[in-house]
Amino acid sequence: MKGLLEMAVVAVLGCGLIGIAVMLTILPAMELLGVIRRIARGDYRPVILTGRSSFLREATNNLRLIAEMLARQKLLLAEEEFSLSMILESMTEGVVITGSDLKIRLVNKATAGMFNLMGVTEGLLLQEVFMSHELLGVAQRAVGTGEVQQGELTFGIPGRGERSHLVVTAVALKAPATELPNGLLLVLYDVTRLRELESVRREFVANVTHEFRTPLSVINGYLETLGEKGVSREMQRKSIAIMQRHGDRLNRLIDDLLTISRMEERGLRLETAPTDIGGLLREVIQQMESQIAESDTQVTLEIPEALPHVDVERYRIEQAFSNLLANALRHGAPIGGEITITAMREGPDISVRFRDNGPGIPLQDQPHLFERFYRVGGDRARQTGGTGLGLSIVKNIVMAHGGRVTLESSPGEGSTFSIFLPLISLHA
Ligand SMILES: Nc1ncnc2c1ncn2[C@@H]1O[C@H](COP(=O)(O)OP(=O)(O)O)[C@@H](O)[C@H]1O
Ligand SMILES: [Mg+2]
Repeated sequence: MKGLLEMAVVAVLGCGLIGIAVMLTILPAMELLGVIRRIARGDYRPVILTGRSSFLREATNNLRLIAEMLARQKLLLAEEEFSLSMILESMTEGVVITGSDLKIRLVNKATAGMFNLMGVTEGLLLQEVFMSHELLGVAQRAVGTGEVQQGELTFGIPGRGERSHLVVTAVALKAPATELPNGLLLVLYDVTRLRELESVRREFVANVTHEFRTPLSVINGYLETLGEKGVSREMQRKSIAIMQRHGDRLNRLIDDLLTISRMEERGLRLETAPTDIGGLLREVIQQMESQIAESDTQVTLEIPEALPHVDVERYRIEQAFSNLLANALRHGAPIGGEITITAMREGPDISVRFRDNGPGIPLQDQPHLFERFYRVGGDRARQTGGTGLGLSIVKNIVMAHGGRVTLESSPGEGSTFSIFLPLISLHA
């Protein structure tokens, strides 16, 4: 019996000791294990342990430090990733990153826009997505040589019409202390606008050269004739008259070119003042009286009593009006024809119309008529002595005033050129 009691006491004591041991060591250890698992899963919330065991306290403290450090690193990494993707997505240049096997890892928004890409591109090969020999060539050279490579690609996107020009720069990406590149960075820069401007400039220079060549070669030809012996008085008089006419044409060409270059100046500020459009039109007609009389044309001016003044640069608008009247006389109204000029208020604008009863302008020429040097009938129209710049000057002047110019014409029924000038100008 006694023995049994002793055994029971020992058992109770034993259980108690085990209980204390469990309380002091196993429970905190299990709690610690739970926290370690949580951290391993990437959950770095602050570590709080309830166990009081001193031998676990140090481990707990270290664990807290580790968790805090990891949390900070995670935040930093997320911030870095965020700003990197923000930069890539807001760039106007295209960016493509691939592995050294040319499998795509990243394509930014600008690239997708340039190539009209839809759907997932990550994981596909460069040539599968871009289908450009030039692009692939540049990429392969960069990976092969490890050096920066550059090229230009021209391509058209179905349904978009125009062709795009891109300059592509390829840089092999190499981690420090590695021999071979382990990735590739492609930067795509859209130079379409630049190339278009270059071709406009080339065309302009070619046109100007052509326009100068004709009168100069005529003048040279007659100078040679005059240098010969025995040229009659009559021939001399005729030659000088022709040279004068071509000299005048060169002068007009230079004047028009200067006007165009001044109107195209960046940030050109017009010196405007409230102007009586009716008065200005009367002046223009007066200045061209002799040309009007020469072509035996009837010019009628129709202006309402009270036409509000418009804020314009007088000299420029006068130039636009006289260009349109000169055209109506030269290309429009036939001998004995009629030209009607009307000015009136139309909504927010003052409209000024020049209507003639001439041959009109073929439909296929109408969209190009305001382009520099464009003439109906090509070289034949050049014989009229114009520079081919008149309408492009009119358009420039009117647009600088915040207005617009339109054309209505059907072949055989004359033409009407209309200028609209806003009453409340926004150009200043
Ligand atoms: N009123 C008009 N009627 C018929 N054709 C016109 C008229 N105005 C202009 N054009 C055509 O538009 C072309 C361009 O005009 P413009 O730029 O003023 O050049 P230019 O008068 O020096 O030839 C003219 O060459 C002519 O073919
Ligand atoms: Mg003209």
